[in-house]
Amino acid sequence: MDQDKVKILVIDDDPKVSWLLSESLGKTYEIVSAKDGPEGLQMVSKTKPNLVLLDIKMPGMEGLEVLDRIKSMDQLTEVIMLSGHGETKNVVESIKRGASEFINKPFDVKEVEIHIQNVLEKNHLKKELDHLKKELKDRSQYETLVGDSFPMLQIKTVIEQVADSELTVLIRGESGTGKEIVARMLHTLSSRKNEPFIKVNCAAIPRELLEAELFGYEKGAFTGAFKTKQGRFETANKGTIFLDEIGDMPLELQSKLLQVLEHYEFMRVGGIKTIKVDTRIVCATNRDLNKALKDQTIREDLFYRLNEVTLNLPPLRERREDIPLLIEHFLQRYNTVYNKKYHPLSSKTVQLLQEYDWPGNVRQLENLIKQVVVREDEEIIYDTIKMSSLHTGSYAAPTPSFTQAKDYSLKNRVGEVVAQQEKSLISEVLSKTNWNRRKAAQLLEVSYRSLLYKIKEYQLTG
Ligand SMILES: Nc1ncnc2c1ncn2[C@@H]1O[C@H](COP(=O)(O)OP(=O)(O)OP(=O)(O)O)[C@@H](O)[C@H]1O
Ligand SMILES: [Mg+2]
Repeated sequence: MDQDKVKILVIDDDPKVSWLLSESLGKTYEIVSAKDGPEGLQMVSKTKPNLVLLDIKMPGMEGLEVLDRIKSMDQLTEVIMLSGHGETKNVVESIKRGASEFINKPFDVKEVEIHIQNVLEKNHLKKELDHLKKELKDRSQYETLVGDSFPMLQIKTVIEQVADSELTVLIRGESGTGKEIVARMLHTLSSRKNEPFIKVNCAAIPRELLEAELFGYEKGAFTGAFKTKQGRFETANKGTIFLDEIGDMPLELQSKLLQVLEHYEFMRVGGIKTIKVDTRIVCATNRDLNKALKDQTIREDLFYRLNEVTLNLPPLRERREDIPLLIEHFLQRYNTVYNKKYHPLSSKTVQLLQEYDWPGNVRQLENLIKQVVVREDEEIIYDTIKMSSLHTGSYAAPTPSFTQAKDYSLKNRVGEVVAQQEKSLISEVLSKTNWNRRKAAQLLEVSYRSLLYKIKEYQLTG
């Protein structure tokens, strides 16, 4: 620790004490002193010491009162009490009120030095912890669902309604749609927020181990079970357990899970004692559970029990209006993380991102924006999307206008011509039908939705 700057204030009515301390500690610390409480308090607000050595017994304002006032100015100012004989009661009281230590008079200077070092060390740790807590809080602020499209607003409303209830929530949605964020929100918006949130990925743990992982085991339950171990349900007691990929849970375990859902009790593997827990259960899956029901890979009774509240997270391509907001959110996040100042994306790029189909949903968008920020290069978006469209055939990227060299790509050139034709045909049909979009879609033999996209894409107006 840098001790050059550590400032210590001595408040004592006995000038010998102040003198002795500044003589002996003056080399290591900056020592200032005050002869009584009122003067001491003035010095505290003026010099902002890291630590105060405070006499308990002083004429006028007593040490305890001075202590209270110092703490109310700044909780993080450390105070060590200096006490004479027969002041045990006051010593105890001062510790209750926030003093870190006390030193009996007369003291040995070496002893004082050790106390000071201890207290400063603890103070340093306290500040570090405060900093970490703040960082954690900042990070959890990121863990909110970005999006104000209608389906997202609906989902946020339901989350708020059910977060603090005991209802079992099933979160469904394609990969990357934000199921885990929702699970965490359900926890942090409930009165369980200060208790554990435990995630178990049912697909990632081998089926032989999953039962022991979830419910724990007794010593000797199987080879290698050297001692009794708590399962995740117990660890999550009073908090929330998030069973991810619930569609992958083996059938044998499903009945045990059902029992927990019904009675909040179970036995450890190899155990005979019933264990009761108060654990909130939230599940998620990106599988088609209706199909799993038909295939009998999920128990019907479990399915209905899990289904008390279902949140269906829509894929990103069904709420394209959220894309600009998400782009903004991730640009901000990764500029902060990587200490960059990458400017907003051009409107053309945003438009391209809004038209793309996002098979990997928000996760894919997030990763792309992260790369753009790290490499400070927006053009990689065009390459990435073009590549991925060639694989999936989901989107024909428009020719980027910033391509300086002449574009000989057959695909692009033909695409341009097709787009021209498409645009004029659609305009023609729209004006013929007086901008009746349904009728126009019928005539064009395309779906209503894809007509709406085309109208937006070509910026057609009536
Ligand atoms: N609405 C959103 N707002 C902000 N970030 C989001 C949103 N949806 C998803 N994300 C981010 O996208 C990434 C993927 O989200 P998450 O892990 O919750 O997806 P998932 O649905 O659980 O996917 P999988 O089925 O693959 O596990 C995370 O980094 C998450 O922070
Ligand atoms: Mg997930």
